[in-house]
Amino acid sequence: MIDLVKNYSSMVRRTKVSAIRELLKYKDMPGLISFAGGFPSSDLFPSEQLKEIGIKVMTEMPEVMLQYAGTGGYMPLKEEIIKFMARHGSNLEPENILITTGGQQGIDLPTKIFVDINDPVFVEIPSYVGALNSLASTGAKFIGIPMDENGIITDKLEEEIKRLISIGEHYKLLYTVPDYQNPSGVSISLERRKKLVELAKKYNFIILEDCPYTYLRYDGEEKPSLFKLSNSENVLGLYSFSKILSPGLRLGWVCGHKDIIRKLEILKQSVDVCCSTLIQGVVAEYMKMNLLESHIGDVVKEYKVKKDLMLKMLSENMPEGVTWTKPSGGLFLWVTLPEYIDSESMLKKAIEHKVTFVPGYAFHHNSEMRNCLRINFSYPTLEQIEKGVKSLAEVIKCEIH
Ligand SMILES: Cc1ncc(COP(=O)(O)O)c(C=O)c1O
Repeated sequence: MIDLVKNYSSMVRRTKVSAIRELLKYKDMPGLISFAGGFPSSDLFPSEQLKEIGIKVMTEMPEVMLQYAGTGGYMPLKEEIIKFMARHGSNLEPENILITTGGQQGIDLPTKIFVDINDPVFVEIPSYVGALNSLASTGAKFIGIPMDENGIITDKLEEEIKRLISIGEHYKLLYTVPDYQNPSGVSISLERRKKLVELAKKYNFIILEDCPYTYLRYDGEEKPSLFKLSNSENVLGLYSFSKILSPGLRLGWVCGHKDIIRKLEILKQSVDVCCSTLIQGVVAEYMKMNLLESHIGDVVKEYKVKKDLMLKMLSENMPEGVTWTKPSGGLFLWVTLPEYIDSESMLKKAIEHKVTFVPGYAFHHNSEMRNCLRINFSYPTLEQIEKGVKSLAEVIKCEIH
């Protein structure tokens, strides 16, 4: 028997299992209410329309749909993305866009072209677990920057940059989710967005601006993206169709300076050659028929009702000492318990009460924030939100002393 452990690469040793993916095993437990995943509501998928468009493109151009596409992406889809982004204030050329296998590949490829072992990278506290895992696999050294209700605290970021400069360390990039962050639901204020862009230019680092939730806005005004504000090569915008259309399609896109996009494209050639032409063809046609914007409108309407109900249930049921964020978009909110409660051990009791969440430590680069938890409101039904928050409140009350 060969010694596999000896043969694995150092990258595999650095790769962690996702706490959230592990929790999915409870998803089909009878009677269990899951606030754990980041799943869109399955009822909202435009299944019939996508099915009809699939038949249409396969009937009209099977030789294109069943052939390889360019690694950078299927051109008609890029053209539709250009129109979509123009409506939201960004002007792009096809060379500024790379179509990716979901948003996750849009995070993973840039980490591989910029980060070497032990390079300092800045992440928000808390941060998206999939990005932490991608960055960890490159051997990045995490520098956590705290957040408040206005997002990442830019003064703290500048302090850290100055500290690294004083010890001669070269930081590479910052990863941020500026709109309705996963996991906290918090958005970065306009003032801090401007400051972030200014810092990236002044101190020469790359911003990975991850935007899978940007178009799921329930209240308030749309804020300009860092990509738009910066107007330079420092920012890469990462987008996904997962939450605005369907995660099963596995499609996303990266926009940025054409030289960086070209580097990402070369790396993608060795990862998966190209995304599925058929799926890109279906989404391009869906967008060409102007269906995406109205679908996003329907999704936003439904999720706003769910978000408002979850906030109402929390304020009616949670005991004193428990606080939570009040997001104006996205899929999640973040609950903070008294310091002495460990949300990971509490999860076992919650599962006995038929409700799940993701413990906060999963979103911290050093597994801290043990008294916090993330809950999702897009996947459960309204009835499940009512029942699930009541059960969660009961579990928390038993922990409080
Ligand atoms: C912040 C963030 N980025 C990226 C992703 C990746 O999503 P996908 O690969 O399905 O587009 C997710 C998924 O939950 C996310 O929350």
